[in-house]
Amino acid sequence: MPKIVLTDVTKRWGNFYAVDHLDLVIDDCSFVTLLGPSGCGKTTTLRMIAGLETPTSGRIEIGDQVVFDSEKGINIPANKRHVGFLFQNYALWPNMTVYQNIAFGLKNQKKYTKKEIDDIVHRVAKVVKIEMFMDRYPSELSGGQQQRVAIARTLAPEPSVIFMDEPLSNLDAKLRLEMRSELQRLHLTTDKTFVYVTHDQMEAMTLATKICLIENGVLQQYAAPLEVYGKPNNIFVADFVGSPSINFVDAVGEQLSPGNVSLSILPDIPATFRFKDQIDLAEWRKTEKQKAEDKETRRLELAKDSKNVEKGNKDSVFNYPIAKVDDDGAVRGDPTEKDFVLGIRPEVLEVCEEGGIEAEVYSAMPTGMETTLRLRIGNFLLTSVVFGGVTFELGSKVHVKFKGNGVMLFSRISGELIGTGSLEV
Ligand SMILES: Nc1ncnc2c1ncn2[C@@H]1O[C@H](COP(=O)(O)OP(=O)(O)OP(=O)(O)O)[C@@H](O)[C@H]1O
Ligand SMILES: [Mg+2]
Repeated sequence: MPKIVLTDVTKRWGNFYAVDHLDLVIDDCSFVTLLGPSGCGKTTTLRMIAGLETPTSGRIEIGDQVVFDSEKGINIPANKRHVGFLFQNYALWPNMTVYQNIAFGLKNQKKYTKKEIDDIVHRVAKVVKIEMFMDRYPSELSGGQQQRVAIARTLAPEPSVIFMDEPLSNLDAKLRLEMRSELQRLHLTTDKTFVYVTHDQMEAMTLATKICLIENGVLQQYAAPLEVYGKPNNIFVADFVGSPSINFVDAVGEQLSPGNVSLSILPDIPATFRFKDQIDLAEWRKTEKQKAEDKETRRLELAKDSKNVEKGNKDSVFNYPIAKVDDDGAVRGDPTEKDFVLGIRPEVLEVCEEGGIEAEVYSAMPTGMETTLRLRIGNFLLTSVVFGGVTFELGSKVHVKFKGNGVMLFSRISGELIGTGSLEV
């Protein structure tokens, strides 16, 4: 089974960059999800790998074959790339039985005997557990069963890579959950590389061996789901994954000694942030500045190149939300090196009897397994998740602390993660 390598792949229409200089290695047998908000370039990326869209520039390899290279003028057509597809609208042929639907693509290829086709159809039908419905028509199947026929049809020609573009979005929530778990099993039993597009972060988190998170055509992070969750590269990634959403808290302060940062939060509570790994903030800021300078130099160099087209859809630092009881109309000024953003996952905010910061229970939403709390500190609202069936009275006073080493410290200048650590108040 092949690995897929994208090198400096760009797709633009005029000065709109749908995919912006993407480098990506999809390992053999992995299950990669392309995740990001609507319009970020997921489908375009998938279509370029599959050969349904021609990149503006770059190089794509599938296994040891170069399928696209803009400089060498290579562009292998889609039907020679040995890839399978499953799209959101997977329309089955209504006038054909399940058996005929699965066999259809094989008959068209003309390379199989009747007996071979019969063997393949039965084998893939068994994999997706629809072998008992072979003689039914699509209209006689439930949504989930139809979905499985569509998957079987994709598997039948034995593609080495399977591309799926939001294949479960037509199903109801319960069926979707069931199909997710079946897709995971299918990946395990078929030993193929899966590339799966979704804008549902939960789906991406639960299915993937690796998540490729894209925004505005630019790769934000490519890592295992729990790394994306616990160590997001920047505030955009932190905000995009996780439900309930992460809390952002503005913080102002400076380094006391390497590894320790003294901060004011919410807005005047003194706090100390300690990095989990030794990070010297002064050094980090130097690197951040250097990166910004390098980027500007590159931009100026490109501007001199007459063939270069400047990106119309500009990239910007993510405008993170801060939850407040009353919108006080506060506008964030330009950040300096003293400005930070803390990222606090709801499960990191611990509710306790004493110590920490005093807060008021603003709302409490129990589901049985856990309760999502909105806690009010001054004008600020923070979300916390308490596990177990605990009841909270609205308006009551509690205390909050920050648990463990999972608090994130971001730079407000670049929006990038400086490091994770503990926060003491
Ligand atoms: N033929 C085209 N001409 C111009 N712009 C296009 C064309 N096709 C796509 N785009 C733009 O490229 C961007 C990326 O599109 P793409 O379909 O890859 O988004 P997506 O991430 O799959 O979004 P969604 O989650 O909504 O499916 C979009 O802003 C879209 O409007
Ligand atoms: Mg799409």
